[in-house]
Amino acid sequence: HAAEAQRTDLMTITRHVLNEQSRHPESRGDFTILLSHIVLGCKFVASAVNKAGLAKLIGLAGETNVQASKQSTTTRFHGEEQKKLDVLSNEVFVKALVSSGRTCVLVSEENEEAIFVDPALRGKYCVCFDPLDGSSNIDCGVSIGTIFGIYMIKDKDNVTLEDVLQPGTNMLAAGYCMYGSSCTLVLSTGNGVNCFTLDPSLGEFILTHPNIKIPKKGKIYSVNEGNARNWDGPVAKFVEKCKYPQDGSPPKSLRYIGSMVADVHRTLLYGGIFLYPADQKSPNGKLRVLYEVFPMSFLMEQAGGQAFTGKQRALELAPAKLHDRSPIFLGSYDDVEEIKALYASES
Ligand code: AHG
Ligand code: MN
Ligand code: MN
Ligand code: MN
Repeated sequence: HAAEAQRTDLMTITRHVLNEQSRHPESRGDFTILLSHIVLGCKFVASAVNKAGLAKLIGLAGETNVQASKQSTTTRFHGEEQKKLDVLSNEVFVKALVSSGRTCVLVSEENEEAIFVDPALRGKYCVCFDPLDGSSNIDCGVSIGTIFGIYMIKDKDNVTLEDVLQPGTNMLAAGYCMYGSSCTLVLSTGNGVNCFTLDPSLGEFILTHPNIKIPKKGKIYSVNEGNARNWDGPVAKFVEKCKYPQDGSPPKSLRYIGSMVADVHRTLLYGGIFLYPADQKSPNGKLRVLYEVFPMSFLMEQAGGQAFTGKQRALELAPAKLHDRSPIFLGSYDDVEEIKALYASES
């Protein structure tokens, strides 16, 4: 039976990106090299996550990044100091990116300041990343991920903070890797969205979901409803409509994992909307513009969906600081239209 035959022509992520580069002869192999270093970081984290329960690589639940510091970055296990998984992941990504020789500045959720690469190792790319997203889910084995966005820097010999604080519309490529029941890497280089699955026996990401398009309308909404009492009018109305639709349509299902990567991945494949709104307690929401909001918004648009902040198209934000936050509503085109209409009628 043909469909059951072993596939022998494997589209690896490297082969795919090399093919795509024929569209950009000016970038030659640089982007492929950069990406292969990101992929190495993802494989390392995938392997560490698989062993998290075993090796106690993980620490006590809790965050140790610049937004929630003051906790130790290591934990004791059998008398040995072990780095927490998010700190370890960050180190791996920073080293992989620097050693690629293709980056000049890095922004990580785990580092207060931008990292300017030594001039001898400088290349033309800027990478903004969240090395391990969903850290509250590490200790219970729920899906977590890595998110990244890539920009080109004008002049790598004179790189400044301004080069990093670009609007998302300048992004060249973005993606995430989800460490879930399988390890999946979703990537867009500005020509649609493709999803690759890690074949552990080959150690290669193989193209499994080519040219993903998000359903135009979804049946799922995804939000932390525990924050409901602090929501503004449009968000409260939107969620009310999800539960009690007035147009005869069935109510939507609620799915919320609490790992942005996993919630966005489901949204991309099944359709629906993911919301992390502003509320009275956090007027800018929770998620960070450079390495959470921008890459996910880029992917959503590339898949035919939308990403909105409550005020504007998310990719048109101009961040003022490295760790700026923004409210975000992203997903199926029609679902985001609805929340846009609610905000428009409010003002
Ligand atoms: P991080 O683990 O990198 O700090 O990010 C966690 C984020 C994101 O993954 C998720 O969407 C969100 O926090 C969940 O927040 P709540 O627990 O407030 O719902
Ligand atoms: Mn963290
Ligand atoms: Mn995060
Ligand atoms: Mn993180």
